[in-house]
Amino acid sequence: MVWVWTALGVVLALFLASLTPAGRDFRRRMMARMYDRTMRRYEARIGDRKRALFAALSGTVLEIGPGTGANFEFLPAAVTRWIGVEPNPHMHASLRAAAERQGIAAEFRSATTDAMAVDDASVDCVLSTLVLCSVPDPTAVARDVERVLRPGGKFVFIEHVGAPRGSTLRFFQSLVRPFWAYFADGCCPNRDLEQAIRDVGFASISVERFRIDREAGPAIIAPHIAGVAGKG
Ligand SMILES: C[S@@+](CC[C@H](N)C(=O)[O-])C[C@H]1O[C@@H](n2cnc3c(N)ncnc32)[C@H](O)[C@@H]1O
Repeated sequence: MVWVWTALGVVLALFLASLTPAGRDFRRRMMARMYDRTMRRYEARIGDRKRALFAALSGTVLEIGPGTGANFEFLPAAVTRWIGVEPNPHMHASLRAAAERQGIAAEFRSATTDAMAVDDASVDCVLSTLVLCSVPDPTAVARDVERVLRPGGKFVFIEHVGAPRGSTLRFFQSLVRPFWAYFADGCCPNRDLEQAIRDVGFASISVERFRIDREAGPAIIAPHIAGVAGKG
């Protein structure tokens, strides 16, 4: 019986240690290391959609949470400057390497979107893919996105979102959220991100809802939105 308590004690100690800054950093390192492998099938399935949607990008593009640089290969030639805000330092090496492979002179700004060191009305487009699920306050980030866009600028996004309220999938998304967020660097699968973006009051917005198939990823993150919001 003693070994059971000892094992439980060790598991609890490891869990508590993982909540410290050093523990969080370790989990982020693991996420960065496994990210490309985990996302390979997802990226293969969503590539065509990205190519079509990203055609809306041009000029100076600010990408929030670019991760390891999965979107570089889909940027059209009309993009003349790329600025990134990526808070996970363990992703930076892959991100820089990916930018180099695509011949993009990447620039980086302050680590998070919580206080983006980007001037008001200074970029033509903001790009976000699978990021608003992880930020502490998606509406605040979307508001900051609107702030940095020039008049006429565009916010281009693909995000996984919460299933309709009251659905069985939404119930399971909410149930697994604490575990999912723990292992996936704060990712919450049950967020109403279309509403968070609409709450900002963009002058125009077009949103398409779609689901990724089981090949691309688990059901819990199947519901997606993709769209463009324009600043008046
Ligand atoms: C699921 S990954 C998506 C990475 C990339 N956009 C892609 O599509 O492969 C989420 C990314 O958001 C970043 N992130 C998390 N919180 C953030 C914040 N507050 N501001 C900016 N990026 C953030 C993470 O570091 C991570 O790179």
